[in-house]
Amino acid sequence: MNNFEFKNPTKIIFGKDKIANLAKEIPANAKILMLYGGGSIKKNGIYEQVKNALSAFEVVAFGGIPANPEYEVMLDALKVVKTQKITFLLAVGGGSVIDGTKFLSAAAEYEGETPWDILSTRKPILKGIPFGTVLTMPATGSEMNSGFVITRRETKEKLATGSPVLYPKFSILDPQVVSSIPQKQIANGLVDAYTHVLEQYMTYPNDSLLQDRFAESILQTLVEIAPAILKDTSDYKAASNFMWSCTMALNGLIGQGVPQDWAVHMMGHELTAIFGIDHARTLAIIAPSHYRYNFDSKKEKLAQYAERIWGVTDGTIEEKAKAGIDKTETFFHSVGIKTKLSEYTTDYSGTAEKISKRFSDRGWMGLGENQKLTPADAAKIVEMSY
Ligand code: NZQ
Ligand code: ZN
Repeated sequence: MNNFEFKNPTKIIFGKDKIANLAKEIPANAKILMLYGGGSIKKNGIYEQVKNALSAFEVVAFGGIPANPEYEVMLDALKVVKTQKITFLLAVGGGSVIDGTKFLSAAAEYEGETPWDILSTRKPILKGIPFGTVLTMPATGSEMNSGFVITRRETKEKLATGSPVLYPKFSILDPQVVSSIPQKQIANGLVDAYTHVLEQYMTYPNDSLLQDRFAESILQTLVEIAPAILKDTSDYKAASNFMWSCTMALNGLIGQGVPQDWAVHMMGHELTAIFGIDHARTLAIIAPSHYRYNFDSKKEKLAQYAERIWGVTDGTIEEKAKAGIDKTETFFHSVGIKTKLSEYTTDYSGTAEKISKRFSDRGWMGLGENQKLTPADAAKIVEMSY
């Protein structure tokens, strides 16, 4: 096991009707900017619940943050923060609204000219204004981590960064919010969380027995609840386990002391930036090819995964590892997610070269757990995903 230091300061308030507890978590004299997305919270009653809980506060609302939150929209929010002298941000949404809020928190304290530099230079972010979240969709884990991903419409770029100062102060997780989520987004959440675990697990053995079993338990739970939550989004048992699994998949715990990959996400982000494909679907497109391409360096963990998650006990390490990749693809298909780029766009020719060039231009010469995955390797993986 590698050395590590771990601190996750986000307070989780989990359970039925917990949105009503919101006021207790926010400083009494705060002026709040409530951020939300395209309006789902107005249809499912979450907007009203939040407004009622905050009746004693001065609240300014800012809606319209799109899926894959856009820099340009967040700059409009930044103007509101400055002109209205906002002191506390409240994200009410899924990963997109929460990520947009994290960027806004950093941008509000940023002293340079162009806040995009926060993402493009990845210089340490030392300050952010405080924020909390009301999670409306399990998927990204953003509600309990300090990372964020922002898209720039103008240049079709999607970049990620983060900082220890950008953990939410609190996140309210009421699994009842899952009931209004469309099937397509439920499937996205399942596959995103599943892949978050894989990115921190599908590397090479490093004697981290407990982390492996934490990771495997999240995968097993997601596989177990997937049919139930797809069948009935009001199934509280399935919804609560789904929600907590997604949070645990990317709140830092399972990644301590172990090698991490994240190349699937880096390639996937480019597919969203270029084609607008949902984040989780880009991961389902890239992951199987990534594991096939890097088979030799990952086969031991692939075989362990096949055995422990999918019960594949027969065969050599290579046979089990191969079965593990096939089972993963079958799982993605079982929740209704396609795994080839050509199933999402007919315009895919040249994508491999485009992504490889973007990686080279940014100096990303060695991705993956061994820092050996070159832009040329990425091109091959993307091409295998066509
Ligand atoms: O915008 P509204 O109207 O709210 O609708 C949203 C949106 O259309 C809808 N939705 C959310 N909660 C709902 C609901 N509809 C009905 N009922 C509810 N209760 O779902 C749609 C998708 O929402 P979004 O927030 O975009 O989804 P997700 O949570 O998957 O977030 C995706 C973003 O997170 C980034 C992705 O790159 C992408 O930009 N990620 C962030 C990470 C992080 N910060 O740690 C890690 C991830 O790997 C990921 O990259
Ligand atoms: Zn993800």
